[in-house]
Amino acid sequence: MASRRARPRGLALYRARRTPRNRIGGRADSAPAGAVPYPVPDPPVREGSSVARTPIESERSHVFPLELARPMPVVARGEGVWIEDVAGNRYLDAMSGGSMAATLGHGRGDIVAAAVAQAAKLAFVHNERLTNPAQERLAEELTAVAPEGFTRARFTVSGADANEMALQIARSYHVERGEHHRWQVISPAQAYHGPTMQTLALTGRPGMHGPFGPYLPQHLHIPPSTWRFDPTGEAALEALDAAIDEAGPDTISTYFCEAISAAALPAYTPPVRFWEGLAERRERHGFLVCFDEVVTGVGRTGEWFAGAATACPPDLIATAKGLGAGYAAIGAVLVKEHVYQAFADGSKRFTLGHTWDGAPLACAVGIAVIDAVRREGLIERVRERGAKLRQELADALADVAIVREVRGHGYLLGVSFVDPRDGASFLPPTLRVGGRIDAAAFDRGLIVLSTQPTRDGFAGDQTLFAPAFTATDEDLGEMVSRFSDVVHEVAKDVEPELEGAEPVPSTTGGGRR
Ligand SMILES: Cc1ncc(COP(=O)(O)O)c(C=O)c1O
Repeated sequence: MASRRARPRGLALYRARRTPRNRIGGRADSAPAGAVPYPVPDPPVREGSSVARTPIESERSHVFPLELARPMPVVARGEGVWIEDVAGNRYLDAMSGGSMAATLGHGRGDIVAAAVAQAAKLAFVHNERLTNPAQERLAEELTAVAPEGFTRARFTVSGADANEMALQIARSYHVERGEHHRWQVISPAQAYHGPTMQTLALTGRPGMHGPFGPYLPQHLHIPPSTWRFDPTGEAALEALDAAIDEAGPDTISTYFCEAISAAALPAYTPPVRFWEGLAERRERHGFLVCFDEVVTGVGRTGEWFAGAATACPPDLIATAKGLGAGYAAIGAVLVKEHVYQAFADGSKRFTLGHTWDGAPLACAVGIAVIDAVRREGLIERVRERGAKLRQELADALADVAIVREVRGHGYLLGVSFVDPRDGASFLPPTLRVGGRIDAAAFDRGLIVLSTQPTRDGFAGDQTLFAPAFTATDEDLGEMVSRFSDVVHEVAKDVEPELEGAEPVPSTTGGGRR
């Protein structure tokens, strides 16, 4: 164990047995159902290139990576819930491609075939003066599975784009109705909505804002109503009232939030009382409610959209990852009829957008994804199997003192860790428990995603577990078993180290305003 930890992160790789069953990228005649139906050659590699080396360090690469000190495996192929790097090391992907996008697993021949067919017919036209059958049909399909009352879809290229556009549509809605004074946005502090300036401003986490504070609009934030700060949701409602009063009720454009959180507070949703209170205040003050369903949209929680089930159904929904399932960069803003009507009765214009919004190629992928989710009964599968998966994770981790909670909705599951000395405080950040869990998982050929946002004050170490909807029972069992081994191993290392570490008070609320 000690020698494993001494290795640089990412260098200790799990080399799987390459049995015929688990080999990826086999010949066409041996390809399993659903795999790409033809051999796909790797692109030629320039002499001297480091492409064939894995993991790759930043100094050997021409890529400007996200973390320059982190060696990166060079992943060349994937099939189902397995991905494989150029040296043949295999990883069990419990995170749908790392970011919850590859909801149908890797190597889906049917989705690839839909993309190929569309590209051969028409890959691109810009939607400013032209539309196309794929965009039209995807809008029909998506509004058909959206919560009641959503009649329009505007397509985007990413989740952050969709969130930005939802904010712009909300603000424009008020302007269309003559309420020019409504522009302020209120959102929960402990959230992630994307890396653009506007979406960064939506989170109230100074650590996430980094050096960009001077560029960010000053939105209003409220604390999350987690068991740690506000188990009933009443404190969040008080903070919401204070924010509304501070800004002036007739200046509020939008309340913007995730219905069920992804990485920022894995699988967390506020208590019903909060949603009811939010709905009352919307009614009283006339603002809109926008849900960021970039992760939860299109099936992740065992519903087409997670927000439909809250006691405050939204006016706008932004969605992305599961719409392209990792096969195309596509997002969408879904709009309720009354919001659309403000434009129809008003200027009849909302002209902002990106070049690739609504492009036929990406929309054809979206159609194929919705078809597959429907045809394969994946919403029901995720809902039913997700409840069992959560129980399996909870049972496997029941004897680990640093595990406080296993939360989950469908295949969006989160494990939160605490200081076992009182069962409630954050673990000392110096112990880097989240990072150690990811590194140990990686050693065992398992991909999960942990975060450690302690310095923002609202959450401690936590791990997200979000497999593809198509994972088999065997795949899920193997994920739980590897993850359980990882958490047990890290907990065993961490517990003695706690003896010398200062406890972190559980009431820390650094990002609160
Ligand atoms: C909840 C949530 N919203 C928005 C985004 C941003 O989406 P994108 O990376 O596609 O811009 C993410 C990305 O992880 C997310 O998790």
